[in-house]
Amino acid sequence: MAPAALLHLLSLLGSVDSLPPPRTSFLLNSTDRPLVYFSLPDVHNTTTLLLSPDASTLYVGARDIVLSLDVSQSDVISLKKKVEWRPSDAEIHDCQNKGKNPTVDCPNFVRVLQPINSTHLYACGRYGFGTL
Ligand SMILES: *[C@@H]1O[C@H](CO)[C@@H](O)[C@H](O)[C@H]1NC(C)=O
Ligand SMILES: *[C@@H]1O[C@H](CO)[C@@H](O)[C@H](O)[C@H]1NC(C)=O
Repeated sequence: MAPAALLHLLSLLGSVDSLPPPRTSFLLNSTDRPLVYFSLPDVHNTTTLLLSPDASTLYVGARDIVLSLDVSQSDVISLKKKVEWRPSDAEIHDCQNKGKNPTVDCPNFVRVLQPINSTHLYACGRYGFGTL
């Protein structure tokens, strides 16, 4: 184990009875805790995450898109489904008429993902400064 990681573990052990609760950290590229990267070139502002109850699917709310990712394997993340949810050209135009920047302010930034039942999610976004 690398000295920095060992030092961190020792400091964790020393603070067991004090707040805040213990956290574990690993060095980047640590063989103890390999990181799995996933990205798509056309997906940005991935600010909302929701893990399915069985921890096999990660839902990601992003700019104009909701993704579902298969995270059931420990060494690979794969795309299951990509649902585009963007304002229409007319809605972007209305947003622009409110004095907003069409590329910065008017996309649909998906901010809330909540499970409804086994087949449906509740999703909310800013949707071009219009109604949700
Ligand atoms: C979207 O991402 C860009 C680049 O990281 C950032 O500058 C911008 O503030 C984000 N917009 C929103 C609404 O989160
Ligand atoms: C889940 O909820 C949606 C929306 O209310 C409904 O249309 C659908 O039939 C429900 N599915 C199940 C399996 O209950």
